[in-house]
Amino acid sequence: MTERPYVIDEMITAKAIAARIETLCREIVAEFGDTDKLVVVGLLRGSFVFIADLVRELDLPIEVDFLEASSYGDATESSREVRILKDLRGAIEGRDVLVVEDIVDTGHTLNHVTHLLASRNPARLKSIALLDKPSRREVDYRADWIGFDIPDEFVVGYGIDFAQRNRNLPYIGKVRFT
Ligand code: PRP
Repeated sequence: MTERPYVIDEMITAKAIAARIETLCREIVAEFGDTDKLVVVGLLRGSFVFIADLVRELDLPIEVDFLEASSYGDATESSREVRILKDLRGAIEGRDVLVVEDIVDTGHTLNHVTHLLASRNPARLKSIALLDKPSRREVDYRADWIGFDIPDEFVVGYGIDFAQRNRNLPYIGKVRFT
């Protein structure tokens, strides 16, 4: 299948992302400053760039774990099913947990994952998403920390793909079909 040609317009610069991460990390440290060891959970695959930058800016004792979820069904249905493709390696009962997501769109993924992790009785459970598209929401979910609210644009880069491409762009770009 030939791909429809497109260009990518820069939307959020690498510098703006780095500055926002610094601010967010100060707030996260204020929340979890007394933690024994924070479990930072990245949702694969899109969060891998964000979590890498986030943890290096986080002046806290941490460990890193990953979880992969996939949602199935018509994106316009609120009954979309979220399945866990790869679960955490470690137990989180009694632990402080921060879930890291690249983007919240309909909200199904993060809503499902946080309910699942909450059922394992962590001491504290918080979430952070670099991007949020509130206009696309289908379930009532808002992450505890948001990097940037964005309009309903087709975005790529900084971990986010278009047909598995462009995850390695150092900035957030907007896809424009030509
Ligand atoms: C994307 C993104 C979020 C999810 C958000 O993941 O990384 O995990 O969709 O959508 P939602 O709020 O509508 O549930 P995707 O399934 O594309 O997988 P990827 O992270 O491997 O790219």
